[in-house]
Amino acid sequence: MGPHVSTTPLYGERFHRDPAAVYRQLRRDHGPVAPVQLEGGVPAWCVLGYREVHYVVRNPELFSRDPRRWNRWHIVPENWSLRAYVEPRPSALLADVDEHHTRGAVVREALDTVDAFEISAAVERICDTLIDRFAGRGFADLVVEYTHQIPLLAMAKVYGLADDEAPMLTHDVALSGQEGEEAVGAHERTVARMQRLVRERRARPTGDLVSHLVKHPIGFTEDEIAADLFIILGKAHLTTSDWMGNALRLMLTEPRFAVDLAGGRSSVGHALNEVLWEDTPIQNHVGRWATQDVQLGGKPIREGDLLALGLAAANADPQVRPHGHEGATGNHAHLSFSHGEYGCPYPAQEIARTITTTGIEVLLDRLPDTDLGVHPEDLTWRPSVLMRGLTSLPVTFSPH
Ligand code: HEM
Repeated sequence: MGPHVSTTPLYGERFHRDPAAVYRQLRRDHGPVAPVQLEGGVPAWCVLGYREVHYVVRNPELFSRDPRRWNRWHIVPENWSLRAYVEPRPSALLADVDEHHTRGAVVREALDTVDAFEISAAVERICDTLIDRFAGRGFADLVVEYTHQIPLLAMAKVYGLADDEAPMLTHDVALSGQEGEEAVGAHERTVARMQRLVRERRARPTGDLVSHLVKHPIGFTEDEIAADLFIILGKAHLTTSDWMGNALRLMLTEPRFAVDLAGGRSSVGHALNEVLWEDTPIQNHVGRWATQDVQLGGKPIREGDLLALGLAAANADPQVRPHGHEGATGNHAHLSFSHGEYGCPYPAQEIARTITTTGIEVLLDRLPDTDLGVHPEDLTWRPSVLMRGLTSLPVTFSPH
C-alpha cells in the first residue's frame, strides 16, 4: 500500500463526533474496502462491506491473525495508542491457522467448562455488592461504578481467584489496555499473576477453565497459558461492559424501552440485540494481515497490509440492510462477534450474554425507578477507533 497522504483518518474530532457518517462517506468514495489512516497516520484498509468482512474472516489462509506479518512495523511509534491490540504475543489465539485450529479449540473447550448457572449466580452477587455501594445515594454513574466493573470481577470468579484479588486484577487489566508507561507495568503484573495461577493449578488442579488448559495433553507452556488467560480477560472486559452500558443507554433514552419493572425485564434481550446491530462494542477490529498480494472489493491489497474489520460499518451495510435502521435487528446475522476460525468463541458469547443480561436485570430489580440523570445529548462516547462505549452514564433513583 502506498503512503496514504490523502486517506481518511479514523481518529480526530470529525471521526469521533459521528463515526457512522465517516463510514458512509468511505463507502461512497471507495466502495466496500477503503484506505484509511489510524492514529498517527498509520495506514490500513478498512473493510466496510458485510460480504467482504465475511470473506476475510472465512479465509484465514489469505488474511492472517498474526501481527508479525505486518509490513509497516517500522513506522509504528513505540508509544502508539493501539499497540496493545497489535502486539505479537505467544498466545494460541494469534497463531496462524493450523496451530490456531488445534490450540484455539482447546481454549474454546476451556471456555465451555464455565457453568451458566454458576456464573449467573456469581454475577448476581457481584452486581448486588456494587449496587449496595451507591443505592443509598440516589444517584450513580452506571458506567464507572457498575458496567465497567462487572465483567472482570466475573472473569476473576471464572479463573477461581480469591475475592480480595479481583479489584487489583480489574484495575490492572483496565490499565493495560491504555496508553503509556503505567500500562506496561499493569500488563506485566497481570501476566505474572496469570503465571502464578497456572503454577497453582498445576500443583492442585480443579475442574475450572484454568485447570482445563493446564491439564490438556496438548501440553501448553506456562507462558502460553498465561498469554491466553490475559487475552481472554482483555477480550471480555470492555466488550462486555460496553455491550451492557450501550444497552442501558438505549433502555434509558428510548421510550420503546421504558425502564420500569413492568416493561423493563422483557425488553432486556431486545435492547442487547439492538445494540449489537446499531452500537456494537467492537466498531473496528484490528485485525488481519494479508499473507500475499490479493484483490479485495476491487482494491489491491499487498502482502503484509493491515486490514481493520469494520464490524459496525458492515452491520449497517445497505447491501444487507437496504431499509437502514428498520428491520434486521430482530435476528442475529450481525458481525459483532466476527466469524470463522478466529471469531468470538460461542461459549464466550454465551458468558457475555449471561453477564450483560444478569447485570441489567439485577439493576432493574434493585432500582426499578432508575432514570437518566442528564440530557441524552450530553452523554459522551469514549474517543476510540476500535470500541464504542460511553464515558459515563449518570442516573438517579429513589435511595434505598
Ligand atoms: C465474557 C466475555 C468474552 C470473552 C471471554 C471473549 C473471548 C474471546 C476470545 C477468546 C476471542 C479470540 C478467539 C480466537 O482467536 O479463537 C474473542 C474474539 C472476539 N470477540 Fe469475544 N469475548 C467476550 C465477549 C465479547 C463481546 C461482548 C463481543 C462483542 C459484542 C466480542 C467480540 C469479539 C470479536 C469481534 C472477536 C474477534 C474475532 C476475530 O478476530 O475475528 N467478544 N473473544
